[in-house]
Amino acid sequence: MKMNSSFDKEKVCADVYERILALAAGEMNEVTLMATIACELHHGFPYYNWTGFYRVVEPEVLKVGPYQGGHGCLVIPFERGICGRCARTGKTLNIADVTAEADHIACSGTTQSEIVVPVFDAKGRLRAVLDVDSDSPAAFDKVDEKFLEKVCSLFRDPEIRWS
Ligand code: SME
Repeated sequence: MKMNSSFDKEKVCADVYERILALAAGEMNEVTLMATIACELHHGFPYYNWTGFYRVVEPEVLKVGPYQGGHGCLVIPFERGICGRCARTGKTLNIADVTAEADHIACSGTTQSEIVVPVFDAKGRLRAVLDVDSDSPAAFDKVDEKFLEKVCSLFRDPEIRWS
């Protein structure tokens, strides 16, 4: 979905962030937070086609957590996929064309671009990755990167209870 010039991405980011803060105020359960964040992100941006978390459930293994959109693959070892690469490197990965990435795992045949952001806890341990897919090419820019990193920094709250 190509956004027209009237789409004010920075304002939408600010509005969605405020909604997340209001809805999740005081909530310290990680899964409840992830479910709320996935929902608000997914419904806040028309070019988000799949929005969700993959959680570190055992060493070097990600498993799908709360998400919105079509079926998401259940298990991703760190050595596979864009999500696994994000987990290994601890870096945000903004993929303009997923077909150009040999390690891309296609949960949907319509995905053209993807952004994956690491989720760290208060002690800097990797706990999950946030994965967003789009059916548009090069859907994500620096505004998306900084916004999603800001959202994921909410999990650095030392009061969050990790399961
Ligand atoms: N594309 C991801 C896999 C998760 S599905 O997109 C929800 C990857 O390559 O790791």
